[in-house]
Amino acid sequence: MSASEDIQIASPSHDELQALALAELEACSTDESLEQWRIGYLGRSGKLTQVLRSVGSLPVEERKAAGAAANQIKTLLERSFEDRQEELLAQRRTGLAETERIDVTLPGRPVSVGRFHPSTQIVREICDAFASMGFQILEGPEVEWDRYNFELLNIPQDHPARDMWDTLWIDHVDDEGRRPMLLRTHTSPMQARVMESQEPPVRVIVPGKCYRYEATDATHESQFYQIEGLAVDEGITFAHLKGTLYEFARRIFGQERRIRFRCDYFPFVEPGVDMSIDCFNCQGDGHLKDGSGCRICKETGWIEIMGAGMVHPKVLAGVGYDPEKYTGFAFGMGPERIAMLKYGIDDIRLFYGNDIRFLRQF
Ligand code: DAH
Repeated sequence: MSASEDIQIASPSHDELQALALAELEACSTDESLEQWRIGYLGRSGKLTQVLRSVGSLPVEERKAAGAAANQIKTLLERSFEDRQEELLAQRRTGLAETERIDVTLPGRPVSVGRFHPSTQIVREICDAFASMGFQILEGPEVEWDRYNFELLNIPQDHPARDMWDTLWIDHVDDEGRRPMLLRTHTSPMQARVMESQEPPVRVIVPGKCYRYEATDATHESQFYQIEGLAVDEGITFAHLKGTLYEFARRIFGQERRIRFRCDYFPFVEPGVDMSIDCFNCQGDGHLKDGSGCRICKETGWIEIMGAGMVHPKVLAGVGYDPEKYTGFAFGMGPERIAMLKYGIDDIRLFYGNDIRFLRQF
């Protein structure tokens, strides 16, 4: 049996082959069936490949025509194959667009942005004001020794002045049966710590948390912030204290603020004062334009914002500074109280109440 006979018997005519191939191609709907089709017709031993191969064994006169015809079919099938491939891909894409559809007209989910706690904000604002006046910002321990919280601040054991600070003592007893550790009741102990660790000049601001054994109400919390200030050098006078705090008040409460000092007692300063600013709500009048009494300053026209004074010579001597040579001023304030005044917040318990509706407003 010759090769040509073989083809004629085993294979359909060119036209039939082409029609069959195209029909089968049309029926392919997956990548796998498409690949099967390609192997079946165009692969190494595919039907068309066999036809092409057999051309060589035809009589010379037939070869040319048969070869041309077979090549034509080959080109056609190859192109049809690519077209079908594209078609399937396109179909799949439209399918995806339907099933994975994103409605771009839907409103987006808002990204909620966190922010600093109002206490942190006001602490930073106050620290920034002093930092730009040349003060260094420092922090200290919240669990403190009696020695720093009281003794080095001229508040000896059993002195009645201790009653000014309701203290949370730590359950640790020393050899003499005393409890020398506590949660600091103010940031003033850092005055002694700073001076002990360096020589003058000193110019520091100490923000930090303080604790008191306190029944809480609208103006008292057992946990709160304080900001301490201390400046010590040769020749520091009350005028420096006044100028510094005046500038601070104007930066935080407005350029037109006035300040007032009155005598007050704190064991670690002499003289000691409390500082007030004129009320920004009623402009120091005590009454609003409509004649009603001002609630912020309780009709006094003044708002107390901090304690201050000239560092007591005993405090200077206690840390090894020569009180004949050096003088200094100190001050301490409650930033929550300042925030309450500034933003008209009437209950200090809101600061630690964790009510997101309150916190969101700042
Ligand atoms: N530590 C004081 C308190 O907790 C506040 C204070 C008053 C700090 C006068 C000072 C100062 O540095 O000079 O009440």
